[in-house]
Amino acid sequence: MASAGAIEQDSRDPGTFQPGKRSRERAAVLCGVGAYIPPSVVTNADLTVRFDTSDEWIRTRTGIVKRHVVDRGTATSDLAERAGAAALKAAGVRTVDAVVLATTTPDHPCPGTAPMVAERLGMSGTPAYDVNAVCSGFVYGMATAAGLIAAGVADDLLLIGADSFTTLLNPHDRDTVTIFGDGAGAVVLRSGGPDEPGAVHAFDLGSDGALADLIMVPAGGSRRPPRAMAHGADDARSSAYDDAWFSMQGRAVYRHAVRRMTGSSRTALRRAGWTADDVDLFVGHQANVRILQAVAGELGIPDDRVCVNVDQVGNTAAASIPLALAHAVSSGQLREGDKVLLTAFGGGATWGSCALTWPKTDPPSEGPTSF
Ligand code: UT7
Repeated sequence: MASAGAIEQDSRDPGTFQPGKRSRERAAVLCGVGAYIPPSVVTNADLTVRFDTSDEWIRTRTGIVKRHVVDRGTATSDLAERAGAAALKAAGVRTVDAVVLATTTPDHPCPGTAPMVAERLGMSGTPAYDVNAVCSGFVYGMATAAGLIAAGVADDLLLIGADSFTTLLNPHDRDTVTIFGDGAGAVVLRSGGPDEPGAVHAFDLGSDGALADLIMVPAGGSRRPPRAMAHGADDARSSAYDDAWFSMQGRAVYRHAVRRMTGSSRTALRRAGWTADDVDLFVGHQANVRILQAVAGELGIPDDRVCVNVDQVGNTAAASIPLALAHAVSSGQLREGDKVLLTAFGGGATWGSCALTWPKTDPPSEGPTSF
């Protein structure tokens, strides 16, 4: 897909194969949305009891008011199953040809979580696999889904973005515990015509592995296997303890996120043949309301066309964009035929954008009561 250098300009000759451009004949068409967030809520006030922080700091620096978190014993597949079932119901189908799960918090390091979710949704035997692009995972999943449909591998599929990101967090780390929450969102995509409402029009994807350490769980993978960190992993004063948890260099991530989401959005808009004025709803990764405002401002998209639900759920990683879409449907912000721009930035570093029109959708049948 697009390299970092392709962000500002697309130098490919017209007439040659252009990655990110949809096939004229067979488009992926979105036809159902579902969402699920776990019931336990952590408010900013709750966090002031545990950390040296304030409701005012969290609201003004991030826009977050509360986040939903999984209880012990609840795993990502549990959230994914509920959101997936809701999306299937909204699309009016019981089964699909493939299940793709975007997540960074699989139930187990091995195997992938998608096959378990597919089986629990009554689709044993269906191809199912995970995609890990951290907070860009849902947009990467959209591209994967569109590719499966364009290649004729699947006529319809379920794409779920789900994360129990709080299970990665050091419970003593104020900087991350205040930001992240858990949840799942899902969409059903089917093959259809490029002019139908719901059609996916264009993508831009990119990555920069030199920035890998900005967002990372240092230990527990093949570089530092779990058995190598066992010693000291329970001692909060040891570096083994710190390295077992998620870490983020927030300020640097902020800077890269604004730059990459802006550049990637411009590329996707150009590939779709749209301008920023055409965009009815801008749905960016819900990490920080200031990042959303900064990117929308750079693009020239007014605040009333920016979807915001980070206040209600915090940063839910791969679930962030589909939860925002479900929120927009429930709150009447999305209507049939609207032009929608998705964009995200996450660990890797990865980023990506997707331009699509919106289909006729009913409000998600199972979802967070706060939506
Ligand atoms: O999902 C993947 C992508 N992730 C993102 O896009 C996240 C991007 N980053 C951000 O959203 C912001 O950088 C943060 C919300 C993480 C932090 O906000 P910031 O305005 O960049 O704050 P900062 O890290 O520059 O810290 C400013 C001050 C520091 O104190 P000093 O050193 O100035 O005395 C921090 O220790 O704020 C302090 N601080 C806090 N204070 C109260 C950091 N977190 C908190 C907190 N409560 N929760």
